Amino acid sequence: MKKINLKYFTTLLVALVLSLGLTTAVGFSQNTEELTVGTSAGFPPFEIMEEGDLVGFDVDLMEAIAEEQGFDLQWRDLSFASLIPALDAGKIDVAAAAMTITAERDKKVDFSDPYWSADQAVIIREESELNVVQALMGSRMIGSQTGTTGASWVKEELIEKGIIGDSALRHYDTYVMAVRDLVNKNIDSVVVDTPVAETFTERQPVKVIARLVTGENYGLAVKEGNSELLAELNTGLSKIKDSGKYDELVQKWFE
Ligand code: ARG
Repeated sequence: MKKINLKYFTTLLVALVLSLGLTTAVGFSQNTEELTVGTSAGFPPFEIMEEGDLVGFDVDLMEAIAEEQGFDLQWRDLSFASLIPALDAGKIDVAAAAMTITAERDKKVDFSDPYWSADQAVIIREESELNVVQALMGSRMIGSQTGTTGASWVKEELIEKGIIGDSALRHYDTYVMAVRDLVNKNIDSVVVDTPVAETFTERQPVKVIARLVTGENYGLAVKEGNSELLAELNTGLSKIKDSGKYDELVQKWFE
């Protein structure tokens, strides 16, 4: 008799715990959905680490979209080149990293509507007297971040056309490191997105000497085929544009 009671009790207990757990899980998912967002800090003012905190335009932009659409965000700071593989492997749900929408990337991931436009810029040390031809040609060292459109521009326009050798392009994990090396005179110029180049000129002894018109647009990226999430992001983006929140963030980070 005792044995049967105990068994019955245990079954009851297990059922209770299970249903409680389920109710809680369902309850949570109705309120908010967790999204893991990958970025690559060191790209001011879009994403920067400040005293251990990830801040920037992209961070605020994603948080504003998340608030509209009921997402709870978990941020991951990765190397820029590993963002697309991370989306592909399902390690992150969204990449918010000032990522240019390119035909090549579009084959591997899906992009939201564009949220920013940029070209490339050439920056050099403030006191340097190099002109753009000198900065980019001859035996000068050019820096850029691995896997970016800036690095591709140097490769396609200068290296592949035989204007410079491939050892003249130095790859960095972040543009912050590239600019540090520029200031320290280890390289002679950096090719980087225009808005980021402008920001560096405010924070470092560097100046912009040329704009390379590439006509880039930034988009948020999701795993190829994740049209449900993409639609949510686009809806959120258009809502924050309508509400004035987007302009508020532009003011905060660019003016
Ligand atoms: N817009 C450039 C590209 O897509 C550079 C982006 C770098 N982003 C970053 N978060 N470090 O290649």
